[in-house]
This record gives sequence, C-alpha cells and structure tokens, in this order.
Amino acid sequence: MPADRLVIAIDGPSGSGKSSTAREVARRLGLGYLDTGAMYRAVAVAFLDAGVAPSDTAAVIAATTNADIALSLNPDERWVRVNGRDVTAEIREPRTSANVSTVSTIPECRADLVARQRALMDAAPNGVVAEGRDITTVVYPDADLRLLLTASPEARLARREGELGGRVNQAELRDQVLRRDADDSKLVEFQTAADGVLLLDTSDLTFDQVVETVIDLAKERS
Ligand code: DC
Repeated sequence: MPADRLVIAIDGPSGSGKSSTAREVARRLGLGYLDTGAMYRAVAVAFLDAGVAPSDTAAVIAATTNADIALSLNPDERWVRVNGRDVTAEIREPRTSANVSTVSTIPECRADLVARQRALMDAAPNGVVAEGRDITTVVYPDADLRLLLTASPEARLARREGELGGRVNQAELRDQVLRRDADDSKLVEFQTAADGVLLLDTSDLTFDQVVETVIDLAKERS
C-alpha cells in the first residue's frame, strides 16, 4: 500500500451508523466513499427489472455478472446506475430492500461483487472509506484501519426509522433491519469482530463522537 493512500474498512449491521459515518469520514479526510450495499441493491433492481424470480438462482447469478454497475465514490455526490438507468432512489425503496438478501446470500453473486469492490477501492486516488458487511474480512483485509460498528437492536431500529423518515411501518422496519441481518449473517460474519478488527459500539455515542473516534484511529495508522 503506497504511503500516501489510506484505506478504511467499516463493517456492521443495518442501523449501526456505518454509512453516515463512512461518508463523513471520507469527506473530512478527502477520501473516496464506497457504499457496497448500494451495489447489492443495484443488482436486486436489475434482476427485478429483468423479470427474474428470486427463486431462480441461476438467473439471479446471470443478472449479477451481466449487470453494468456504476456508482459515485464522491461522498458529496451520491448516485448509482445499473444497466444505464439511474436507480439512486429506487435502491432504497422497500421492494428493493425486501429482495436484496436474494443477491447477498448467493455465493457466486458475492464473489462477483467483491471483485468489483476491490477494483474500485484500488482505483480510488487518495484512498477510500468502504463500508458493508465483509469489507474488513473478505473484500479488503489489508485495509489500514478495520472497524466493526455495532449498536443495540433498539438503537439500530430507531436510526433506520429516522433515515426512512416515516416511509415504512413497524413490521417493514423490523423486516428491513432484524430479519435482513439474520439472513445476511448466514454467509458473512459481521456481528463479532474478526482478528485485528476493532469493535466500536455506537449505541451511546453521538454521530460526531463516532466520526471523531474513527478519524483519530485513522490518523494513528497513517
Ligand atoms: O447496507 P445495506 O442495507 O445497504 O445493504 C444492502 C444488502 O446487501 C443487505 O442485505 C446486506 C448486503 N450486503 C452484504 O451482504 N455485503 C456487503 N458488503 C454489503 C451489503
């Protein structure tokens, strides 16, 4: 890793605060920001667009490997395109959230997206803050700083509800946060920190405290 690049890997469950933290850290340190969940979501939109049934694993794999995914690494400019179509808003819709685990629980889909994520991270000029579920362990275990952000289920539900601004009911919210984490944990371990990964419980910290802690840790390592 060249001395002038910094790579920060952040994993954690939904609502742990990893996305907003990663974006703000990237902004303050002048790094790229990679939201790997957006790539899984973009593929979910692509297979639904193509009329593929979630149970048709071979077709979901084909939709993944054929998907042309483009996304912004600029923390101040968020957009995602799949197969030439802007899906920035659509990837956050309940229909996408309800179908994204289909993609994230198929090993072939994960392998395809992991390779693309590594390539994007390697190409970021000053370095990157990447967040997801397997960045510290699979995508970029050589990152300069590897962090697992956790928070209590109550804190995670409350944060996701705030992010969605009342657009979902309680059942959808629990589905989006708790059911999805349970499904996603079947293939990747993101609830306990792997060797060399620092654990940061954000339940009782303010957003600024979390961001400052990450920046301090990054400075110690750069
Ligand atoms: O972080 P998110 O809610 O946008 O993630 C969307 C989905 O993709 C979620 O079901 C977890 C999955 N995911 C994953 O398995 N691995 C990643 N690196 C990122 C997301």
